[in-house]
Amino acid sequence: MAFLADALSRIKPSATIAITQMARDLKGKGKDVISLSVGEPDFDTPQNIKDAAVAAIARGETKYTPVPGIVPLREAIAAKFKRENNLDYKPTQTIVGTGGKHVLFNAFMATINPGDEVVIPAPYWVSYPEMILLCGGTPVYVTTKIENNFKLTPEELDRAITPRTKWFMFNSPSNPSGAAYTWAELKALTDVLMKHPHVWVLTDDMYEHLVFGDFVYTTPAQVEPGLMDRTLTMNGVSKAYAMTGWRIGYAAGPDKLIKAMELVQGQQTSGACSIAQWAAVEALNGPQDFIPQSRKVFEERRDLVVSMLNQASGLKCPKPEGAFYVYPSCAALIGKKAPSGKVIETDEDFVMELLATEGVATVHGSSFGLGPNFRVSYATSNAALEEACRRIQRFCASIA
Ligand SMILES: Cc1ncc(COP(=O)(O)O)c(C=O)c1O
Repeated sequence: MAFLADALSRIKPSATIAITQMARDLKGKGKDVISLSVGEPDFDTPQNIKDAAVAAIARGETKYTPVPGIVPLREAIAAKFKRENNLDYKPTQTIVGTGGKHVLFNAFMATINPGDEVVIPAPYWVSYPEMILLCGGTPVYVTTKIENNFKLTPEELDRAITPRTKWFMFNSPSNPSGAAYTWAELKALTDVLMKHPHVWVLTDDMYEHLVFGDFVYTTPAQVEPGLMDRTLTMNGVSKAYAMTGWRIGYAAGPDKLIKAMELVQGQQTSGACSIAQWAAVEALNGPQDFIPQSRKVFEERRDLVVSMLNQASGLKCPKPEGAFYVYPSCAALIGKKAPSGKVIETDEDFVMELLATEGVATVHGSSFGLGPNFRVSYATSNAALEEACRRIQRFCASIA
């Protein structure tokens, strides 16, 4: 009898975490490494949010909370959806989890039966397929095109839907490409979804606040209210308020889905950390000036990185609308020789040679389902980014 669960044979470890660890190990050995592989803001959590957590401890808010979240947080979430997305959810139609990742996992756990398909545009966030596979479902990938700035077209979505499709997994702005859908682009997709009433929409809005220039953010149920009764709108405080370690994510959706997710959570975590929930109340209800400040910093960095990477020979880097990632193609360098003498056959070879030669850690595109590309996270200082991009330029120039 096998000791480990069969389900584990269906999944693989996160490539992002593996590269970050490799970079850490090289640093430990004294190599000068710049890590562009992590997916978290490099700012500290705003002070008012930290203060709210300290005050919660002092008040004794240190006990089990209701499974779906404390009432003030569920009220703050409903108010946030109304204020920022014009969505009418009751507090009872919201749920709080231990990070956005946990909320997604519970949604899949609560709904997926063997054979159920989930349509995922590629490139995708590494965890979607693995969560779906763990829950016994089947990811159905739809590869987007670099010339469409990695955005799914309505025809591509329509072709991917079958009678077995349970969810359409949507993520805008996207990790890893940074692509964000305009109202019109999203409406074209929701029009397709309206033709397929059995398909539910899971929208991961984690990077909602990181959009640049005059881009206006929209979410599926806002663009097409007819989808409200089959959409789970998921979001969190991790990226918007630099709160990755607090582990608070949330979602809102139809009563029957939220009740099912609560049932899962009740036998699993019994709800998120009480102190972090009070911090999230302050994040959502308190002053919001942190958001435009961080957006401005990230926009400057995006412009810097896109410009420098497009000057590297053999790289092609689209300019995305949001998040803190870019996703350049290294197709022109495949089949050529790195300075070490190794022939670069894949984007993984490119990333590994770049790390070994120049000490710059990025993540290969094939782990996000679309290559030959690599993901650069620009959630680090301008000085480090400039130096990293100079090294990437030098590395690309030395490939023959
Ligand atoms: C697209 C996307 N969704 C969800 C998450 C998970 O967020 P959290 O840290 O709140 O679990 C991440 C984190 O990297 C992400 O990039």
